[in-house]
Amino acid sequence: MEGFKAQLLLVLIEKINLGIIVLDAALRIQHWNAFVAERCAIPLEQASGQPFVEIFPQAHSPAFARIVELAHGDSQHVYNHWLEMPPLKLQANSPESDRLALQSNLFFPFNTPDGSQYFGLVVYDTSVVAQANEQLKAALKALGSKQAEQDQLLRKLETANSQLLQSEKMAAIGQLAAGVAHEINNPIGYVFSNLKTLDGYVRDLLKIVDAVEGVADLDELRQLKRNLEYDYIRGDVAALISESEDGIDRVKRIISALKDFSHIEEDEFRPADLHRGLDTTLNVVNNELKYKAEVIKEYGELPEVECIQSQINQVVMNLLVNAAHAIEQFGRITLRTGRDEDWVWVEVEDTGGGIETKLLNRIFEPFFTTKPVGKGTGLGLALSYNIMQKHSGSIEVHSEVGVGTRFRLNLPIAQPSAKPEQDGSSL
Ligand SMILES: Nc1ncnc2c1ncn2[C@@H]1O[C@H](COP(=O)(O)OP(=O)(O)OP(=O)(O)O)[C@@H](O)[C@H]1O
Ligand SMILES: [Mg+2]
Repeated sequence: MEGFKAQLLLVLIEKINLGIIVLDAALRIQHWNAFVAERCAIPLEQASGQPFVEIFPQAHSPAFARIVELAHGDSQHVYNHWLEMPPLKLQANSPESDRLALQSNLFFPFNTPDGSQYFGLVVYDTSVVAQANEQLKAALKALGSKQAEQDQLLRKLETANSQLLQSEKMAAIGQLAAGVAHEINNPIGYVFSNLKTLDGYVRDLLKIVDAVEGVADLDELRQLKRNLEYDYIRGDVAALISESEDGIDRVKRIISALKDFSHIEEDEFRPADLHRGLDTTLNVVNNELKYKAEVIKEYGELPEVECIQSQINQVVMNLLVNAAHAIEQFGRITLRTGRDEDWVWVEVEDTGGGIETKLLNRIFEPFFTTKPVGKGTGLGLALSYNIMQKHSGSIEVHSEVGVGTRFRLNLPIAQPSAKPEQDGSSL
């Protein structure tokens, strides 16, 4: 029975997919199994009794000496992983066994029943794991450089974006300036020409007044008045003056709207009760609304919203006035509010004439108006758009011709604070 067990163990040792080498106390080779034999250029018969370090010259190293010292002195099992220390490499005897370049070893002392000391050396082939690990490392490295590339691209994109924004801003300023010039040019033109006409009229009127001193009789004076078309002048002066006043008034309105533009930076962001602001605004524009529409309030639950309230009121006022203007006879204006996670929204919906699809992307342009000359400046929505941008919010429009229009303002409850730059180096 004992003999069978010994045989069983021998077969096991030969079949196991691990290298097993037995050394005596002086580290001379006593035995190795088939796993080692297959991978070693020297046959066991020749190696038997030879010092281990002579057959495996790679073992002639401080690392191996240390392993022996540990196993010998403290009777420890010393595991040597290829990642931690240079492995003991078995001599390759076929190209295929290159794969075995990476090995882990277990070195341990043991005593036979008669008390003699031996050492066991178990060799694991860890090349597959190691290769996988190497591939993983390479993949990680590639990923790292891809990440760096992406970061760089992102930075480039950010720069390009800010340049684009800058140039868009410049274009917007250019557009605004061109618009202002165009809008002001017209009233200034006719006020100027009216002034010239008035200048001529005043000269003629002065001639008549001066003549009072020198004329012989009233008939002569009447004749002069007829010659100088006094009646016509009389009628025209009032018209010219009223038209000029209108012109100047229009310029004044454009200038005050422009002032609003340039004052957007002013005032502070503060938590505000939007509903109160909406109610105040409704009161202010009530006169404009009451003959045109029934106003319906559908307020939701709103927290305090960090904003510049006067500016939000101004936006809502523009929307309400526009809504009233869009209604021909009498209609309905609905003022709705609500909350969506970290955002709130305000909607102004009317049952007015609607906006043609092709005009929808123009209504936010400065000076775009479909209202008759002298009625609208076309700055209301452009100003509103700017204000919403300043609030890190947005303004949307949905419109259907003949049905009505709905404007929606989206506002963050808290303004995004200036976040510190993330440099990605804190991994
Ligand atoms: N609720 C609405 N229904 C239909 N059209 C609208 C509505 N709101 C705006 N519009 C269209 O958008 C144009 C631009 O509006 P915006 O408020 O910017 O200027 P405006 O009302 O014409 O002039 P201002 O507001 O300076 O007096 C309007 O002329 C109109 O054609
Ligand atoms: Mg308007």
